Amino acid sequence: MKKKNVVPTPIERKSACSGARGVLRRFRNAPKAAAALAACAALAAAFVPLAARAASAVNSVSNSANATLVAHGEYLARAGDCIACHTTQGGKPFAGGLKFDTPIGAIYSTNITPDANSGIGKWSYDDFAKAVREGVRPNGETLYPAMPYPSYARLSDDDMKALYAYFRQGVAPVAQQNRAVDIPWPLSMRWPLGIWRTLFAPKVQAFDGAPSGGAHYNDAIVARGAYLVQGLGHCGACHTPRARTMQELALTDLEGDDFLAGGGAIDGWVPSSLRGNPRTGIGAWSEEEIVQFLKSGRNLHTAAFGGMTDVVQHSTQYMTDADLLAMARYLKTLPPDDPKETPYAYDPTAASKLQSGDASARGAAVYVNNCMACHRSDGRGYTRVFPALGGNPVAQGKDATSLIHVLLTGAALDGTKSAPSTFTMPPFGWRLTDQQVADVATFVRTSWGNTGAPVSADDVAKVRKTVTLTTPELPPGASLKR
Ligand code: HEC
Ligand code: HEC
Ligand code: HEC
Repeated sequence: MKKKNVVPTPIERKSACSGARGVLRRFRNAPKAAAALAACAALAAAFVPLAARAASAVNSVSNSANATLVAHGEYLARAGDCIACHTTQGGKPFAGGLKFDTPIGAIYSTNITPDANSGIGKWSYDDFAKAVREGVRPNGETLYPAMPYPSYARLSDDDMKALYAYFRQGVAPVAQQNRAVDIPWPLSMRWPLGIWRTLFAPKVQAFDGAPSGGAHYNDAIVARGAYLVQGLGHCGACHTPRARTMQELALTDLEGDDFLAGGGAIDGWVPSSLRGNPRTGIGAWSEEEIVQFLKSGRNLHTAAFGGMTDVVQHSTQYMTDADLLAMARYLKTLPPDDPKETPYAYDPTAASKLQSGDASARGAAVYVNNCMACHRSDGRGYTRVFPALGGNPVAQGKDATSLIHVLLTGAALDGTKSAPSTFTMPPFGWRLTDQQVADVATFVRTSWGNTGAPVSADDVAKVRKTVTLTTPELPPGASLKR
């Protein structure tokens, strides 16, 4: 098999647990009766799936009888985004060592290369399958659910075998010892993780890769999409809300409307609803638009940012069109979790005012001076270059964190195979006050038919405290003045 060239994206990794931390803070005030469970959940808190940047590792496989299996395993490893968490920035692929911050200390991902001493070189197939699907190591220890084994529990035996073949034969061995957790004893004890696993992780059942139990699964394409979204893709790890005890409120659509209804913020970015909500979800997107987004990180409606850029970069852009279509078709079967949400309809009022020079609406002047060149007066942007703001879920969600965040820090969308150019939204936090950001955010949330609630300067101040402000790159000799 040929070596693949993947350009690593050098983006800085921030704290992995910002979402978990808020939840954990609430635990401190929990009644004593809940203390045992709380302690267990605290240990389980290192769940937050994050995305790291990594290169690709492919060993050459000489045995052609095996080559197909190993190549299939490589494809599945991409679909599962193993590389994102098991590789440090600039580190050897799959050698582990990526840090996950938790409120009680740090844990590190492990070496899953086939090195005999420091990796999984001596693991049998059963050892590997038990770790990936059940979260249990060969020595009986339970893994932290930062490793998304509750989703991987849905992998079929055939796919598990292909993954094993890839990690044993397709990945270059790297001698790199695993790092011990930086959690003080007794919190470092792993037995409470076993309790969490027993309570919340699904039992692994013999499974041929076709989910059952819902009429929509009778459609083979929908079933394939469900298999990928619920299992390897572990989309719910970010997009499904969690209970106080950190388990996802639903691991499949059959478990309730919380499935993929939007997760808590991770590093200050809110994973939006993937259900049929017309304004705050993807109800207005066609299958083809979903495919386009997963393939290139952009479409008519939006452009990826935050953790989703890494998912696109390392995982979904490599998936086949057939699998992307299957995921899209499955997502389109999910009804809205809020049946009262009205469909989006474009309203030309804001655009005609701006075009006639009337910038009297709250935030309109800030918009004219800072945003209009790219996102245009009609809020429609330029397709697949500058996202449309009218009808955009980011501008209408209940939680305005992502919108405020993108205004303060800007965002960059890296090129992908199918859309090679990089586009950048400049940062504004360094020169707009909290009040100005609140005003322009409010303008965006209430113009062109959007129906988001207004944003206050206090809301902006809260987000500003949690993000790292940058200044744009300047031509030589220029200076930054407010
Ligand atoms: C969201 C992050 C994340 C993703 C994605 C992820 N892992 Fe992990 N994985 C971890 C972390 C963190 C650990 C260590 C947990 C611990 O120390 O308890 C781990 C542990 C493991 C282990 C146990 C190794 C040992 O020595 O104990 C195996 C095997 C493993 N992962 C395989 C995989 C495979 C295969 C994939 C892709 C299908 C994958 N992981 C995807 C975070 C992740
Ligand atoms: C130089 C062109 C440019 C300017 C000026 C600009 N933006 Fe952007 N904006 C972009 C690009 C490109 C993206 C996509 C970035 C990404 O996803 O990584 C974006 C993304 C966004 C998003 C997220 C939407 C989504 O779906 O990804 C919002 C909201 C936004 N801009 C609002 C604004 C506002 C408000 C202003 C003025 C304060 C502004 N932008 C100024 C280019 C620009
Ligand atoms: C590491 C966390 C993470 C994982 C895993 C993840 N996402 Fe996302 N996703 C996000 C974040 C954060 C956003 C919001 C930013 C944006 O719109 O790009 C998002 C946005 C999206 C959007 C755009 C929604 C909108 O309304 O604008 C789609 C579609 C999407 N994700 C699909 C998926 C699918 C399908 C999977 C599984 C294959 C997945 N995501 C896995 C974090 C994640």
